[in-house]
Amino acid sequence: MFTEYSLLLAAAGSALVAAAPSARSMQSPCAQISQQYMQGVKAGRAPTFPGALAYECLQSMPFDPKRGAAFVEDVKKYMQWQSNADVLNNPPTSYLSPPVDIWGGLDYLQQQAADNQFGNQFEFDTALSDLFISAKDGHLSLLPCSYMPFAFVGHESLVSVSFDGLQLPQIYTFGDAKVLKSNPNAVSPIVRINGKDVVSHLEGVSESQSFQDPDARYNNVFLSRSRYTNSDQMLGAFSFGPNGMWPRSTVYNLAYANGTTSRSEVKAVVREDGFQFVDGKALYESYCVPASETTTTSSPSTATPTPSNSAPASSTPASQSPSSTAKPAPTGYPKAAIRDDNNLISGYLLSEPGLEDTAVLSVPTFGVSDIEGGNKIVSDVAIEFIQKAVDAGKKKMIIDLSANPGGDVNYAFDLFRLFFPNKTPYWSTRFRAHEALKLIEKVGYSAPQGSQNLTFASLVKVGFYGLKTPSQNYTFKTLEELYGPHNVLGANMSTANSLNMDLISSEEKPIHGFGDINSSCPIFTEMMKYEGVKTISFGGRPQYGPMQAMGGTRGAQVLPAETLIMITTAVLDMAAEEELLSKSELQQLKALSPAEESPLQYGLLQVKLRDAYSKRDKDSAMPLQFVYEPAHCRLFYTLENVLQPATTWSAAVKAMWGGGDCVAGSRM
Ligand SMILES: *[C@@H]1O[C@H](CO)[C@@H](O)[C@H](O)[C@H]1NC(C)=O
Ligand SMILES: *[C@@H]1O[C@H](CO)[C@@H](O)[C@H](O)[C@H]1NC(C)=O
Ligand SMILES: *[C@@H]1O[C@H](CO)[C@@H](O)[C@H](O)[C@H]1NC(C)=O
Ligand SMILES: *[C@@H]1O[C@H](CO)[C@@H](O)[C@H](O)[C@H]1NC(C)=O
Ligand SMILES: *[C@@H]1O[C@H](CO)[C@@H](O)[C@H](O)[C@H]1NC(C)=O
Repeated sequence: MFTEYSLLLAAAGSALVAAAPSARSMQSPCAQISQQYMQGVKAGRAPTFPGALAYECLQSMPFDPKRGAAFVEDVKKYMQWQSNADVLNNPPTSYLSPPVDIWGGLDYLQQQAADNQFGNQFEFDTALSDLFISAKDGHLSLLPCSYMPFAFVGHESLVSVSFDGLQLPQIYTFGDAKVLKSNPNAVSPIVRINGKDVVSHLEGVSESQSFQDPDARYNNVFLSRSRYTNSDQMLGAFSFGPNGMWPRSTVYNLAYANGTTSRSEVKAVVREDGFQFVDGKALYESYCVPASETTTTSSPSTATPTPSNSAPASSTPASQSPSSTAKPAPTGYPKAAIRDDNNLISGYLLSEPGLEDTAVLSVPTFGVSDIEGGNKIVSDVAIEFIQKAVDAGKKKMIIDLSANPGGDVNYAFDLFRLFFPNKTPYWSTRFRAHEALKLIEKVGYSAPQGSQNLTFASLVKVGFYGLKTPSQNYTFKTLEELYGPHNVLGANMSTANSLNMDLISSEEKPIHGFGDINSSCPIFTEMMKYEGVKTISFGGRPQYGPMQAMGGTRGAQVLPAETLIMITTAVLDMAAEEELLSKSELQQLKALSPAEESPLQYGLLQVKLRDAYSKRDKDSAMPLQFVYEPAHCRLFYTLENVLQPATTWSAAVKAMWGGGDCVAGSRM
């Protein structure tokens, strides 16, 4: 993964560093960027480049047909684990996104690569990345090597604003939105982008977003302060990238309703310090060729001066922060009754008229494991907050999951248990049934019982072993019981299974009431009834009617490439040493396993390991990814909601409990 880069500075408007025209014509695009980078660094600026020049540099990367075809072959080995790889080609009608032929697509790209049909690495990477994105599944992602050097910054962020939350929204630049309240006649909504109707243009941008729901994809095009756990994502896909990717355009021409226009150029920033490459080949060798194959020093020369600090100088001087580790509170939110230093979770006790009995738990992410002790921290904050809410006499609880991208499953289970201490979290999942899974499970089920073995422990930890039925009343005893296969929507799938919560609950990653972790006091049960939970969504495309409550992936578990390699390597070793697989089975598992070193580098590669099923779906017959589930109510964002996300809480209370309206046709 790439590290932090100085996008904030770029967005703050550092001047473009321009090279002398004569020098430009002499040098390769990548060399021009290197030179401009050096000049910027020397001058103490965060270097920003014309997007078109960065794009030319990427297009000057060579393409190696053998390497490209081998990479696709490796990608197929990951894809065999993608739980809905087969169903995607023929999804049920409840699915709102188009079908995707994953296997056909990969075969085609592999052939094209072998036949040297790609002009450069970037073209190949774009084709492969587009195939991944077409699955509209955040668990399935690829950040190919040529996407690593640059991030593209398209334009100032846009927002979609409804006058009252019920009328269809209009689109403004964020800057204009900020003056809309004080001086509504000074600004005007956007009607066209690059000559195209603004909504259809932005729906096009939204197709780059890996969410199953089209309204969620559309929301992600715009700035959202509730995406505060990731400052790049906060800008929205129209502004940042999308996702930092090449926006497929060098300029933006915006036309406003009042008849004026504006024009801006796409810019690029480097994702890593020290950009020094003489040409596209050098860039390719550094970013794409596996480390073990690069003979000479492909990393930037040590003579390169690097910016003394890649973070913008204006951001939080040390003297202003109370503790060196605490992050500032998110913009647009009131003072929290409790929050952790990393903005992973926060609780609010509302006091404005009509909300005196309401508490809000804001959970912007479940991804807490990267912070040391993260799971314990959020669990403790949640427990303390529930106690505070009870003490303050609160009767209603809003759980704000806006922009939550998912994360650690233990944390989600734990939060559920804190609110419903007497209920077992229901978790029904299936793996795609295929030979590699079968062989890995065979090793798991033939390993000595109660083994303290590390390989075995990692199988349990990742969720390959010790699995139970979804009702948690039976632990699978044989490979056959777990593996099946069962026909689900025409695909071979494993038996429906759940993680064993007693096995995965630990002091480090507690699930209260499981394993050695005692149940927390059932203090909130009076207030919370499972049946009483209602959902409300905000935003979406400018059309009336319902919107789904959950727009992102509804799969149950992601499998990062490194985890699969760790598991297969360990299992192969253990199976060989303990003779748990026959010789031919060993060979087969080896052949089905991805290479320990990928033929091409990448920034991220991951697939969806498990489909999830609803508790109401007794036979676990319809993966949730394909189920349409509208929220109980929908509202559009108002200007106030955009500037101060916390105002969505009072809007939600009014709509759900206060007799207020929902968007026409959205009350369920
Ligand atoms: C028209 O609207 C744009 C966008 O809000 C604004 O920048 C511009 O000043 C407006 N022009 C006039 C003449 O009102
Ligand atoms: C795990 O099993 C392997 C293969 O039998 C063995 O070499 C290794 O020592 C075991 N590790 C532990 C911690 O028991
Ligand atoms: C487990 O519980 C489910 C649902 O209550 C039930 O259908 C099933 O028969 C039970 N299985 C066992 C092995 O007790
Ligand atoms: C499912 O697996 C069976 C073997 O168990 C195989 O014959 C069949 O072709 C598979 N079906 C699909 C759709 O892959
Ligand atoms: C859990 O509860 C039991 C019984 O109340 C107590 O003995 C034990 O110390 C508790 N464990 C933890 C980790 O708090």
